[in-house]
Amino acid sequence: MTEVRIEQPEDADGVRRLLESAFGGEDEARLVAALRPTHAWLPEFSVVAEENGRVVAYALLSRVMVGGEEALALGPVAVTPPRQRQGLGSSVVRDALRRATEARERLVLVLGEPAYYRRFGFVPAAPYGITSQWSAAGDAWQLLALRPVEARYPAAWRAL
Ligand SMILES: CC(C)(COP(=O)(O)OP(=O)(O)OC[C@H]1O[C@@H](n2cnc3c(N)ncnc32)[C@H](O)[C@@H]1OP(=O)(O)O)[C@@H](O)C(=O)NCCC(=O)NCCS
Repeated sequence: MTEVRIEQPEDADGVRRLLESAFGGEDEARLVAALRPTHAWLPEFSVVAEENGRVVAYALLSRVMVGGEEALALGPVAVTPPRQRQGLGSSVVRDALRRATEARERLVLVLGEPAYYRRFGFVPAAPYGITSQWSAAGDAWQLLALRPVEARYPAAWRAL
């Protein structure tokens, strides 16, 4: 039985262990630990999948600014090695994106494998003029627009 839900305080250690085993190092766990005490940390977008009391998958959305507007960064995303490629990564990512959509968030950025993230609707960010320290990563630097933004033309255009 898998339960996908928001991370609770008692999950923090399980999230750290999961990140270390999925990535084979401590960098991603350090990133999450560094984000937790900051304004970028949004607890409602820290999503775990739990099975038999263990955290088996994780997806995080945290605050970033894009040209002065609030947006979200997706990552890290991780699944415990024995349970990879069985849909758990997709479950936690989709749950986090649903929560962000319901919260009227507009834009999500991710640095990751396009072959994986395209299934959620992510597209390369560079053609939209959004740059970052990840721009050199090419198509791995991606964005997802969660809701449409209307372009308003001045009245003169009504003549057309
Ligand atoms: C990447 C990861 C989160 C994907 O989660 P998952 O539960 O294993 O994957 P899902 O079951 O949701 O999706 C499976 C699909 O993703 C693809 N996929 C999985 N990992 C991939 C990767 N690193 N690159 C490209 N495609 C990948 C599989 O080929 C499969 O494709 P298909 O549906 O066309 O058959 C997980 O494998 C993982 O934790 N890997 C180690 C940590 C990592 O690299 N995280 C990504 C950070 S950007």
